[in-house]
Amino acid sequence: MLEISKIRNVDLDYLTYLLTTSEHDEEIFATADEMRRKYVGDEVYLRAIIEFSNVCTQNCLYCGLRAQNSSVRRYRMSVQEIVERAEFIAKLGVIGTVVLQSGEDPYYDTKMVTEVIMRIKSLGLAITLSLGERSFEEYRVWKEAGADRYLLKHETASPQLYARLHPGDSLESRKAHLLELKRLGYETGTGCMVGLPGQTPYDLALDLAFFRELDADMVGIGPFIPHPGTPLAHSKGGDVKTTLKMVALTRIILPDANIPATTALGSIDKDGRLLALKCGANVIMPNLTPNVYRDKYEIYPGKSSFYDTDLEAVQKALKTIEAAGLRLGRGPGGRRRIEALV
Ligand code: 5AD
Ligand code: SF4
Repeated sequence: MLEISKIRNVDLDYLTYLLTTSEHDEEIFATADEMRRKYVGDEVYLRAIIEFSNVCTQNCLYCGLRAQNSSVRRYRMSVQEIVERAEFIAKLGVIGTVVLQSGEDPYYDTKMVTEVIMRIKSLGLAITLSLGERSFEEYRVWKEAGADRYLLKHETASPQLYARLHPGDSLESRKAHLLELKRLGYETGTGCMVGLPGQTPYDLALDLAFFRELDADMVGIGPFIPHPGTPLAHSKGGDVKTTLKMVALTRIILPDANIPATTALGSIDKDGRLLALKCGANVIMPNLTPNVYRDKYEIYPGKSSFYDTDLEAVQKALKTIEAAGLRLGRGPGGRRRIEALV
């Protein structure tokens, strides 16, 4: 029998055990599906991603956009282009949130990002920023300008693995940024990759514990997918089953969080996002980067969105929701807290 209270209490030994054996998988998936239904309901929210710059000053070992990958053709969208794209998204009428995503690109300074936020907010859309680590002062200014949420994955909660994958950076510093985002009142999203080289089941249990420690409002979990233009080209990637199990355990630990069925999961399995919706996920993030730029945002190879044009990404998401027997959620779809868990 699955010991749900041990999962909810983030018992690291028990979580490690569950991540080591497949014995309880079906029970974990069913419990997560039930909790999703009970605490967030049957509505699945769409978030439109605009990948507005693939320039990055960082060198994360796993990522195709790392600064040292000279084979990437770099692009930057202008403020006007970004806002026009948001207008297009607003007009679709089925998406209430725009996610502004980029590499760590200082070209977009405090003022430019502020202008983008204010113009997009006037369209009545919620805004999620996903710009990597920026200054605490910028987080404050952008929150005041109207940004609602911030996504900053911690990637792995193992300090040693984090340091190995992020030259010159530390997990402590990443955690400090996330705590500051929370303190400022952002709905704060974090997340991790599954199947990183050297990552153990215990490390994954640490990821789950960190979601709880932060009281994350959003949690994105995807498989690691090796990219040929990186130092990890020849590593093994993450698998579907373990990724789904992490999604499901996250739902049990944070019953009212927003949890996306990630593009990365949809990229290693054509049914990946559907499966995630069936075991805890309640958000899909269709890629609405303009077609001319889309194939240049190659964080990992075979990204499913390379093959979709504008509306296909949205149509596919709607079909996936239907196939899961769920409904489209309208409006911003922020976290609705359940105060007392019953
Ligand atoms: N495989 C899977 N996900 C990746 N990301 C970056 N590189 C990879 C990869 N090779 C994810 C990270 C990061 C976001 C930009 O994309 O989780 O947060
Ligand atoms: Fe840059 Fe983000 Fe890729 Fe790291 S993961 S290299 S910060 S785009």
